[in-house]
Amino acid sequence: MSGSTTGLLWSVKSSFLRYIATMADGRCSATDGADAVPSQDGGHGRFRFVLDSVEDKGTTVTARFRGDVRFSGHHGLLFVRLADPVLTFDASGNGVLSVAGADGPGYLPLARLTVTAAEAGRWRGTEVRLTDSGSDMFGGVYPQREPFDDLVLDLPTPVRLSSEPPPPSAGVRPTTAPSTRSNR
Ligand code: HEM
Repeated sequence: MSGSTTGLLWSVKSSFLRYIATMADGRCSATDGADAVPSQDGGHGRFRFVLDSVEDKGTTVTARFRGDVRFSGHHGLLFVRLADPVLTFDASGNGVLSVAGADGPGYLPLARLTVTAAEAGRWRGTEVRLTDSGSDMFGGVYPQREPFDDLVLDLPTPVRLSSEPPPPSAGVRPTTAPSTRSNR
């Protein structure tokens, strides 16, 4: 884990960032707990959403973040707001990333993803795929299941999915952190 900063690091979708960057009036802002982290490899950088809370229920973790990232362009016709993300994932790595959308306080699932432990306190989200409501957030230009960029999740080190087996009815396989899935 880099430093002691906890949060969610995500470049959303590099081609979308490029699209905004090349637009004459394209704008991107990160406020209220989000900031833009410059790229270390010449890419478009990433956004960091600060960690708000983590709820570890043993077989399910819910991490809430604060921050408001907005994209605009095409003289106001394009407006995308991704705010206060919430990431829930289970011991099998099935994750859902939800955000407060453009139209108010309600949360909508933005993407489904696979979450795996990488190193102490650090988790990675891969196979990030847009949901139906996520497609709507991007004007329907990207279809459902459109691949989005991988993300990195830095949580306080003690947070880990329980190694206790879940009740048989739960249907999920327990995974310790760091796990055998970390090499994927
Ligand atoms: C005046 C209205 C608009 C015009 C003229 C326009 C034009 C374009 C063009 C030409 C591209 C292709 C860019 C490229 O391949 O380099 C594109 C891509 C795209 N547009 Fe728009 N657009 C408009 C409005 C919108 C709106 C309202 C949204 C909603 C979010 C949107 C979302 C996107 C997305 C997500 C892409 C794909 C970016 C990528 O990943 O390559 N556009 N648009």
